Amino acid sequence: MTSQEEKSLYERLGGYDGIFAAVDDFLDRVTSDPQIGVYWKGHSNDSMERDRQLIVDFLCEASGGPAHYRGRDMKTSHEGLGINDPDWKIFMDHAAAMLDHFEVPRQEKTEVLDFFTSLKGDIVE
Ligand code: HEM
Repeated sequence: MTSQEEKSLYERLGGYDGIFAAVDDFLDRVTSDPQIGVYWKGHSNDSMERDRQLIVDFLCEASGGPAHYRGRDMKTSHEGLGINDPDWKIFMDHAAAMLDHFEVPRQEKTEVLDFFTSLKGDIVE
């Protein structure tokens, strides 16, 4: 029996289904936000579904799951959007609210938020 500490973050987040549900809920939050929702304005449903799938793959791979992310790196995919510090704070607040909504335990919540924070330098301009 694998102990909780030996499990990958991917497993502790509920594997593919858990991560997919989290990303789906999270994208609803950020795309309907009055300030940062504008970044996704003009994206068709199909483009949004592609983005959602890329984010799921990215997070599955990063958390130790059996996935291979085939999207662009974080700098390339966000450069030029003009995402600033206040945008980032709103994004992180939505991330925390989503994790609370799914009752993700404190340890896993911290690991997810720390991972997002590690990407900030490539995303915020
Ligand atoms: C304030 C924060 C963020 C905003 C406003 C934002 C916005 C966006 C937008 C508008 C796109 C679509 C770009 C395009 O179609 O050209 C995108 C793509 C993407 N974002 Fe973010 N993003 C943010 C943070 C993050 C973070 C923290 C992650 C990692 C978990 C992430 C992962 C991705 C991925 C994987 C893609 C798809 C890359 C590709 O198309 O190849 N984003 N983001």
